Amino acid sequence: MNYNKKTVRDIDVAGKKVLVRCDFNVPLKDGVITDTKRIDAALPTIEYLVNHNAKVILCSHLGRPKGEFKPEFSLKPVADELKRKLGQNVILAKDVIGPDAKALCASLKLGQVILLENVRFHKEETKNDMEFAKELASLADIYVNDAFGTAHRAHASTEGVSHFLPSVAGFLIEKELKIMGGALENPQRPFVAILGGAKVSDKIGVITNLISKVDTIIIGGAMAYTFIKATGGNIGSSLVEDDKLDLARDLIKKAADAKINFLLPDDNIIGKDADGTAGEYKVSDSNSVPDGWMGLDIGPKTQDKFTAAIKGAKTIVWNGPMGVCEVDETAKGTLALASAIAETDAVSIVGGGDSAAAVEKLGYADKMTHISTGGGASLEFLEGLELPGIACLMDK
Ligand code: 3PG
Repeated sequence: MNYNKKTVRDIDVAGKKVLVRCDFNVPLKDGVITDTKRIDAALPTIEYLVNHNAKVILCSHLGRPKGEFKPEFSLKPVADELKRKLGQNVILAKDVIGPDAKALCASLKLGQVILLENVRFHKEETKNDMEFAKELASLADIYVNDAFGTAHRAHASTEGVSHFLPSVAGFLIEKELKIMGGALENPQRPFVAILGGAKVSDKIGVITNLISKVDTIIIGGAMAYTFIKATGGNIGSSLVEDDKLDLARDLIKKAADAKINFLLPDDNIIGKDADGTAGEYKVSDSNSVPDGWMGLDIGPKTQDKFTAAIKGAKTIVWNGPMGVCEVDETAKGTLALASAIAETDAVSIVGGGDSAAAVEKLGYADKMTHISTGGGASLEFLEGLELPGIACLMDK
């Protein structure tokens, strides 16, 4: 995929109606946004357009309302937050391509900002229906995609509209491409990838893609037990994907053939239940976890081995925690790695989703070079897949 895309800087936006797809899919509790990071990440593009006299039409999805209007999925809280952050009025249209949206778009003045309602209130959105995309595009003169978190979806507002309008990237997409794309294409070495999380099956594509690019792959989290079982270890009652044992052996062989370090845990913190709340923990060799016990975090020897591999790294990509971070006793492995990364002068990139949440909870977010706003999108990016919401934008 070509990462070198035209951006809002490469197109004259003054006096133009600009449709900006953002990822305002923010977490909500009782109608209140609990994390505004995705809104904050969209501000540079919006402010640039406002300051350059564009007429700004924002759109996004929120949750999965499955093609019908559901008030709990309204973008109203996002419009209110944008108003506060931008210090100017942001009118929320009552619909997406209906009479209210059309009237608001037609009356937009230079530097004004409106937000369309949740694009997923139309079932045509996720089907990438071209008639719907055309209607949406007809509201504007230019399309800007800044929704990195949704760039892996070929939906009407992320891909379809690009068939009808000159289409460029916003600053968030530009930044994600520059930092993550730069790491994959031209990394400073040593390049270390840290992969964790529950399932090998979620990370097959990432491991396969990274084997040919990195110097070291560190494997932690519950997915490590599938690799340990595949190499003959006794993992007790640890989580495992028995149908992925051959695949795990194959990945280990591929890493050996590529002559890269493929590091698995040697010891673990084990407990009695998968969420780590049973309150009984001990250290076990990874190869001999007693029956009735399960691995919940990497152990102290493994912390030393992994942090030694991180020391001196110049590029680090991290996706997935080392253990159950919701419980202090089993968050120590992830914490040790976050702290080791903070001490390097490496370009450190944290994939979104669980890894981003873990790094934030542990207080290391500001020590990382970049925390991606994409969950599924950054995973697919690290897999080397083409993201439709980016591929559709004009090349430089
Ligand atoms: C995300 O939160 O990962 C994006 O907003 C995409 O949401 P989706 O998985 O519902 O398409």
